[in-house]
Amino acid sequence: MSVDHNAIEKTDAVLHEGEDSVFYVRDGALYIEGVRASDLAKKYGTPLYVYSNRMIRERFAEIRRDFLDRYSRNDGLGDDRAGAYAAYAAKAFLTPVMCRIVAEEGFLLDVVSGGEFFTAIQAGFPADRIKYHGNNKTIQELEEAIGAGVGRIVIDGLDELFIIEEIAERAGRIQPVLFRITPEVSAGAHDHITTGRRDSKFGVPMDEDVLYPLVGRAVESPHIHFLGLHFHVGSQLFDPAPYIEATGKALGVIDEINRRFAYSVPELCIGGGFGIRYTRAEERQPYAAFTGPVVALVNSYCEERGLIPPDIGIEPGRSIVGDAGVTLYTVGSIKQIPDGPKYVSIDGGMSDNIRPALYGAVYEAMLADKAAAKAADKETVTICGKLCESGDRIIDGASLAKAERGDILCVFSTGAYGYSMASNYNKIPKAAACLVDGEEARLIVRRQTYEEMIAPEI
Ligand code: LLP
Repeated sequence: MSVDHNAIEKTDAVLHEGEDSVFYVRDGALYIEGVRASDLAKKYGTPLYVYSNRMIRERFAEIRRDFLDRYSRNDGLGDDRAGAYAAYAAKAFLTPVMCRIVAEEGFLLDVVSGGEFFTAIQAGFPADRIKYHGNNKTIQELEEAIGAGVGRIVIDGLDELFIIEEIAERAGRIQPVLFRITPEVSAGAHDHITTGRRDSKFGVPMDEDVLYPLVGRAVESPHIHFLGLHFHVGSQLFDPAPYIEATGKALGVIDEINRRFAYSVPELCIGGGFGIRYTRAEERQPYAAFTGPVVALVNSYCEERGLIPPDIGIEPGRSIVGDAGVTLYTVGSIKQIPDGPKYVSIDGGMSDNIRPALYGAVYEAMLADKAAAKAADKETVTICGKLCESGDRIIDGASLAKAERGDILCVFSTGAYGYSMASNYNKIPKAAACLVDGEEARLIVRRQTYEEMIAPEI
């Protein structure tokens, strides 16, 4: 792709502007890679999720360069003590095309449900490179996964080990498992995305009489290959401190397991949660800012105690796709409440992005073809959706060029947990998604039709 950087106008409107940003302004219009945003809206309709292939690929490359390549002990990923491995957390955004990108990039895939597992298998993703999470996997989900040869199951429930043992025995398999521990560390941009606290529904408590009997059983079981420990402290984090704190606790458990069971724990996965830029107030940290100190701690701890250091795994979701995606909407009704807010209504809302309503998440937006508007010409508006909820507001206090019906609005950093958490509330069909690659764009999710939406309804 060739971007003429001299033709790029400086504006404060584009959230991710930088020398080589995939989002930039030319001739007063927003571009995504080599394509004008409003052309995509014309071609595919709105609401439309738009992903930049280049930005997604760059994130995978950063992880390879600064984590996998740096800490690899051999060429394999995750197997035979690779040193480091990475799984993409499918929950952030998963479609067959995304599965193929993850496979091409050589990453594992982390799934949390039969539906995510099915999507991956249908797309041809190898089962042995899938890692299965979930705090309440059903027996049917476990049977399907083990039967297909799933690479790793992360045990969360207290009876899950016994269920897996039984299924693996019947299937004639030795099932690799990790235990998700509750690291008793509190972190996360919002209470709903804090997962590592002691009272969390996730994970096995690190209590003496809960964790160690399970680990002992896993180590002994002929149907189980005990791979190690996993934790996930929270999401949208910018500080490595909670990862380091949780790693310290996990290392204590690894040391204890080694002492009690004479078992060298092969893996420690530190989860995902690496933060992205939703607004100018946030500055994404490189992966190395998190993984560097964690690996250093693991190595020094293990050296001191004469332990073989476990492989370190990460599971990024949001930081791969979040800021690589935007949503385009068409502006409709504009309503100035006398002595009140000015509402700019869009043709989507909480059905395609529930995050503002659910977490109070904050976004930035611009009018795609009014990108050169000067600050003095901007006004402060409330961008609201078309759903029957007062809380269906995407941005409060957005600074926008003067909007008119038919304008294309671009909301930045919607690539993670937008499409994946979309609903059909108010019978709004699910939006389409496209992937831009240089000058080209292709549809990766077709817009749902009314017929498809009501097809299962009897
Ligand atoms: N691994 C595990 C075990 C997780 O529970 C999660 C996210 C991830 C990895 C990926 O985290 P990420 O890198 O994407 O932050 N719907 C919420 C986020 C929920 C995250 C739940 N677990 C949101 O929209 O902010």
